[in-house]
Amino acid sequence: MALYTLPELPYDYAALAPVISPEIVELHHDKHHAAYVKGANDTLEQLAQAREEEAWSSINGLEKNLAFHLSGHILHSIYWRNMSGDGGGEPLEKDGVGELADAVAESFGSFAAFKAQLSKAAATTQGSGWGVLAYEPLSGRLIVEQVYDHQGNVGQGSTPVLVFDAWEHAFYLQYRNQKVDFIEAMWQVVDWQDVARRYAAAKERGDSLLLAP
Ligand SMILES: [Fe+2]
Repeated sequence: MALYTLPELPYDYAALAPVISPEIVELHHDKHHAAYVKGANDTLEQLAQAREEEAWSSINGLEKNLAFHLSGHILHSIYWRNMSGDGGGEPLEKDGVGELADAVAESFGSFAAFKAQLSKAAATTQGSGWGVLAYEPLSGRLIVEQVYDHQGNVGQGSTPVLVFDAWEHAFYLQYRNQKVDFIEAMWQVVDWQDVARRYAAAKERGDSLLLAP
């Protein structure tokens, strides 16, 4: 039985327009995200077979595939929920996301400085990758990560709370080669309520990660 399943989109294909066209949302979710779900399930099956047969000649490739597809599934699952047609602006106390706003200011100096860092990290990915805002439990601060593919260049133990997909499949049909314009437009659909919920959950879980024995 498949362990992972493709989550339903929390809105219809047109909900993020004009920032992201319905055509992109449909292809991105129904084809690309679905392929990572299938890839993760297929790789788990292949690993089970390898264990059963004690056939380990492909272990390196299988572990790499598992990291790639599973991370792709996880990041896209966060990505869809991070966005809303009613999103945008910045996290503000009056909207009930003051804790997140404070953490951003403390970790980056200001919202503007954070926005500049995440935008730059996302827009300058070489090849395929993501710009990610993550909670880092050792310091208790937020950091920006520039993720290679879906799984590289990541600090262990950090939890993504806001993710910008910078793969060409996320924008090319609409923005062509203008990745910078796409990343700038993305800020108009960020759902800060969702980011704040993820931040609170990551913070709570991060404490238990670091419990002394
Ligand atoms: Fe993607």
